[in-house]
Amino acid sequence: MKNIPINSIINEDCLKFLPLLPDESIDLIITDPPYAISSGSKKPLSMKNIKKQEGFGGDWQIINEEWDTFSFDDYCILIKKMLQESYRVLKQTGTMFICGTYHNIGIINYFALSANFNIINEIIWFKRNAFPNLSQKCLTASHENILWIGKSDLWNYNYNTIKKLSYSFDRLKEANKQLRSVWDIPNNKGKDELAYREAYPDPSYWIKSQKPLRLIDRCIEITAQPGDIIADWFAGAGTTLVSALNHSLSYVACEINPKYVDVIKWRLAHQK
Ligand SMILES: C[S@@+](CC[C@H](N)C(=O)[O-])C[C@H]1O[C@@H](n2cnc3c(N)ncnc32)[C@H](O)[C@@H]1O
Repeated sequence: MKNIPINSIINEDCLKFLPLLPDESIDLIITDPPYAISSGSKKPLSMKNIKKQEGFGGDWQIINEEWDTFSFDDYCILIKKMLQESYRVLKQTGTMFICGTYHNIGIINYFALSANFNIINEIIWFKRNAFPNLSQKCLTASHENILWIGKSDLWNYNYNTIKKLSYSFDRLKEANKQLRSVWDIPNNKGKDELAYREAYPDPSYWIKSQKPLRLIDRCIEITAQPGDIIADWFAGAGTTLVSALNHSLSYVACEINPKYVDVIKWRLAHQK
């Protein structure tokens, strides 16, 4: 593949898709790989022996997906290769936001350093409305982690624009104050973000780990420049692509599950 398939979503394993992309062709990668928390003995306490109860839901209890089941070694290979290829395809000014949890963010951090990335920030996404811990054996997980990493020290930070902003939902960001590395963003999704579920009522099309749009919007607004190409290798419900489209930026993405690819195409076609 000599050219990047701009504004397309490819139904492929990212480890097969990434080697086809040209060197230094992508400005920004925002991606959310599997967390490797669905496999048997390594399930975190918060997910062990828990049956779904009425009124409870959310990531920690219900992510038990085929795509998330790995041996530790296989998971390390996926993350290592994905990060090495991401480094190769990023422009010198390029950066990458990688979402994770406390189960996998250490692995991502390790392989990012070994692929030669700069660790710019670790962001703590504080989920004020996290649901209670049903096991009663550990603390209630109320954050996720996002690493912002750069290919060189030439990355763009839209400092002045971001400093001016405040958000009605974020108690930690005031107008004209620097943005901190703890983000107070409720995990609620708007009606528009879940509208695809009416078009695809079969729950096997529903992406339980779908990120809220305003989280991904913030990643884009921090660093993106007009004309940038935004990529996502684990596209899920397509949140990164929807955000890129809303910011009039180009995108390229892959996703291994054909059902999720249908969802993404639907969402992109129905963006207002
Ligand atoms: C955590 S979810 C991403 C959710 C997404 N951020 C969103 O907002 O909807 C991870 C996704 O990676 C996909 N996936 C898993 N392994 C993959 C691989 N090797 N290549 C491409 N996609 C993969 C899964 O099907 C799943 O949709």
